[in-house]
Amino acid sequence: MQHSMIMEHVTFGVCYYPEHWPETLWRSDLERMRAAGITVIRVAEFAWNLFEPREGAFTFDFFDRFLALVSTFPEIRVIFCTPTATPPAWLTEKYPEVLNADLDGRPFSHGMRRHYNYNAPVWREKSRLIASKLGEHYGTHPSIIGWQIDNELNCETDVFYAQADHDAFRVWLQQRYGTLDALNEAWGNVVWNQSYTDWSQVHLSRPAAGRAGFNPHMRLDEKRFFSDSAISYCRLQHDALREHVPADRFITTNGTFGHLDYKALVGQGVDFLCYDSYPNFGAGMIEGPSGEMADRKWSWNLANVRAFSPLFGVMEQQSGANGWVMRMAARAPLPGQLRLWTFQSLAHGADFISWFRWRTATFGTEIYWHGILDYDNRDNRKLREATRTIADAAKLPGLAGLQVQAKVAVLRDYDNLWDGEDDLWHGPMRRAGEAAWFEALQTTHTPYDIVYLDDGTLAADLARYDLVVYPHATILSPARAAVLEAYVADGGRLLLGARSGYKDSRGQCPMEPAPGPIAGLCGATVLEGSMVTPADTPSHAEWDGVRLDTPLWNDVIDPDPGAGTRVLAWYAAGRFEGTPALTERAVGAGHVHLFGAGFAADAARALLAGFGAASPYRALLELPAGCELAVRGQGADRLFFVLNYGEETTVILKKLFTDRLTEEKKIGETRVDRFGVRVLSLNAKEGMV
Ligand code: GAL
Repeated sequence: MQHSMIMEHVTFGVCYYPEHWPETLWRSDLERMRAAGITVIRVAEFAWNLFEPREGAFTFDFFDRFLALVSTFPEIRVIFCTPTATPPAWLTEKYPEVLNADLDGRPFSHGMRRHYNYNAPVWREKSRLIASKLGEHYGTHPSIIGWQIDNELNCETDVFYAQADHDAFRVWLQQRYGTLDALNEAWGNVVWNQSYTDWSQVHLSRPAAGRAGFNPHMRLDEKRFFSDSAISYCRLQHDALREHVPADRFITTNGTFGHLDYKALVGQGVDFLCYDSYPNFGAGMIEGPSGEMADRKWSWNLANVRAFSPLFGVMEQQSGANGWVMRMAARAPLPGQLRLWTFQSLAHGADFISWFRWRTATFGTEIYWHGILDYDNRDNRKLREATRTIADAAKLPGLAGLQVQAKVAVLRDYDNLWDGEDDLWHGPMRRAGEAAWFEALQTTHTPYDIVYLDDGTLAADLARYDLVVYPHATILSPARAAVLEAYVADGGRLLLGARSGYKDSRGQCPMEPAPGPIAGLCGATVLEGSMVTPADTPSHAEWDGVRLDTPLWNDVIDPDPGAGTRVLAWYAAGRFEGTPALTERAVGAGHVHLFGAGFAADAARALLAGFGAASPYRALLELPAGCELAVRGQGADRLFFVLNYGEETTVILKKLFTDRLTEEKKIGETRVDRFGVRVLSLNAKEGMV
């Protein structure tokens, strides 16, 4: 990764919009930022008209003036953005083909943001040109340390149905399949007479009689295409910038949204990824059956970003109440939460934090999306809390670059994420399962990673994990099954959930027993299965007297005794009572388990405990469920982050720790304030434990 200075030590910034404020305010803003310890500002992501107010008439006066002032603040550096998230009105009016359209083919009108599509040739050229012009003009500016491409690719919408997208999809399919015969075969087009005889007949989704009946194989390719389109668009801008931007300045983009394979994006289109973290969304938007963990749901999202960028930045960290002009969606952070959420990001691997935004907008759509300062521009408690947070982080000089530690991983892959979107069972079951594992990992203080399998994943990438959970990999290619097999043979423990391995990478169901290419490794096949609905007798299984709930789906597993497969748990109720629900097979130095059901939090906790993977740090410290534990670094560098999402509480330190924020030595019962944070280290000798 190219880091430049922002990642060499933990660095703090703000999102700033000089175009929203009188120029007379710029200097005092920069002075107040400097006083608080803010040393990076992100600018220009929506400012196209300031660079090209009329087609081809480029001017840089505005940001030249702003950057000239910034240059007089040697401590303050700039992340400059390409402004393509909001194409100007002159552009969309003259070239309406750049606008995105909905599935019904209705083009978006100008306005809001991200109203463009990625494939219109004129839009790609206009985007390349503005990126190139900005790179040329500002590429070597001494105040600029890095670049952000666009803003939040695939936010607002992650589907694209403009004419240019239909056209580009055809080209994409021709490259993928070569012939119409191959396409017809891959999409199973003989069904319902969908076979194409000419490429002109092929489209992305369009209005049909009943939207539940889209061709599933086409829909999967459609999402792959959306993702490839976004990546190619980002790459176009990256390459245009790189022609002018020296290699010691990074190029990134921000956010994680749907239908975009960020693992492919990182490395192809950006040097590393930045996330936009608004934890208060979690309080009102709870996924999964349990409704638990909303207070820290963003930890899962941060682990997800880390899957793409082991070290990353947070380009937008929530600092105030959230809302747009038509809604006030999230409440104001309570005292302590701005600091807590910032440390949540640091604990999960962020080395750069930029709060959104320096000051709340006084006009426009985002007048209710509060930043650090409010409309009145007075110093306030949020600024004091941000200042304190920066001072705290300065006490952790070795933090940047330390790897987040985890021995458990939850696997994901884009084929399954996307294939599960259209149905009412696979997608919801995956989400519920992930929520269950999140809750179990959180409440047992078991640090975890999320890992995305792709065609480049090697068994070595998984080797650091004692337990790998792949909840519902319905699509599983032989190549990925082979990677999992090698991981197990080398000593790993793999747990697969219901409906594994019955589809190939086209989303078709080959005529072979599930779990398909991984059945041999499991030493078991699935005889039959069924959804478990509220109308069914609730089903559960028992493992050595411990109850494992088996919601949503039940597979009947048929273990092959000849392969040495053991049944660990049997369904004790429900439709398939008395049949195997959980198996184990020892393979090489490791183990593989097939579980026939969806995952609930209690079952995930029991499985974690049963596999000896729960609470790896219990010999060092004991925490209540309201606190999260995250660990960065190894040996004597290791830092333990204790994040308290609730009221004042007590943790028990079983060894002598140093509190790195207060320099106090601590052992035994130790208080953690409401929304408090402790960053602890062991002395060098115990650090090796
Ligand atoms: C983000 C976006 C910002 C700002 C913020 C608050 O999604 O990147 O530009 O709009 O949300 O709404």
